[in-house]
Amino acid sequence: MIDMDKRVFAIWSPKAGVGKTLIAAHLARYTASKKLLTGVIDLNRQSPSIPAALDIKLPREKSLKEALYTERDSEVITNFHNNPKSNENLFCLALNLNNKIDDLFEVTDLQISRLLQISKNKFNLLLLDLPTSYFELTSYEGLKFADKIIAVIDNDYNSLVALKGYLNFFTEINIPHKDIILVMNKDMGLLSGEEVYKVCNMPIAAVIPYSKHFVKDMNEGKSVFDNGGSIRDQRLIRSIADIFKQLTIEENHKDKGQDKSTFKMRFYLRKLMGRGVSLNE
Ligand SMILES: Nc1ncnc2c1ncn2[C@@H]1O[C@H](COP(=O)(O)OP(=O)(O)OP(=O)(O)O)[C@@H](O)[C@H]1O
Ligand SMILES: [Mg+2]
Repeated sequence: MIDMDKRVFAIWSPKAGVGKTLIAAHLARYTASKKLLTGVIDLNRQSPSIPAALDIKLPREKSLKEALYTERDSEVITNFHNNPKSNENLFCLALNLNNKIDDLFEVTDLQISRLLQISKNKFNLLLLDLPTSYFELTSYEGLKFADKIIAVIDNDYNSLVALKGYLNFFTEINIPHKDIILVMNKDMGLLSGEEVYKVCNMPIAAVIPYSKHFVKDMNEGKSVFDNGGSIRDQRLIRSIADIFKQLTIEENHKDKGQDKSTFKMRFYLRKLMGRGVSLNE
C-alpha cells in the first residue's frame, strides 16, 4: 500500500471551466482504488459539482453547509458521504442540491479552517476542489491550507497570463511555487511546454488531451472510469497517474531524506561511542 496520510491537495485553476472537477474526481477515484482513504471537499460556495462527477448522491441531511456550521467536531465528518457500491474508500462533502445559491455567503475563515483541519485528520488524502477566484474565502483558505496545489490550465494563452498574475499573489501569501504542480488540460497543441516555462518558469507535470469522450454528458452519462479500457480512457488515466506520481515523489524524497539524516546521526553517535555501524540497520 502507498504510504500517505493526512495529506491535503488543492485542485485550483486561474480560470474557470478548465477541468478542475474532472481532474479532482478522477484523481479521487484513482487514489481510492489504491486503497487510500480519500476525502474530497467541493468548496464551491454556490452549487456542487463533485457529487455528480463521482456518482455520489448526497442525502438531504448531509451538506458542506452543515459541516461548516455545526458545533460538534464529529458532525463535520458525518457530513461526508460515500457510495459503497462504487468505492468504500471514497468520501465526498459538498453543498447539497437543496441548499440555496450563495448559502455560504457569511461563512468565516475560522469555520473553513476548522473544517479543513478536522477533515485532514480523518483521511489518508484530502482533495479540495476549489473555486477559481481567490477573492472567494473558501478558495483562499484552501490554497493556504493545502500541502500542494494542482494548478490546472487549459491550452490557451489567457489561462497562461492569468496563471502568471496569480503566481505573484501566491508569493504575497507565502505559497512557494515549488508546491504547485502544473497540469495542462484540454490540450489541443496550441501552447508548448517551453512557452509555458518561459512565461511562468514552471514545468508541466501532466498533459490531458481535449476529448469529448471525457465529457460525461456526451458519453451516455458514463465517466471514463465507468467506461474504462479504450485508448482515450487510458490516456486520461495515465495523466492522472502522472499527477499522483508528482504528489508522491516528494513524499518518497522526504522519507529518504529523513532516513539519510537518521542514518548519519546514528553513524556519528556510534563513532563517538567507539562502535561500528551496519548498513542493514
Ligand atoms: N480534457 C477534456 N476534454 C474535453 N472536455 C473536457 C476536458 N476536461 C474537462 N472537460 C469538460 O469541460 C467542462 C468543464 O470541466 P470542469 O467542470 O471539470 O471544469 P472546472 O474547472 O471544475 O469548472 P468550474 O470552474 O465551473 O468549477 C465540463 O463539461 C467537462 O466535462
Ligand atoms: Mg468545478
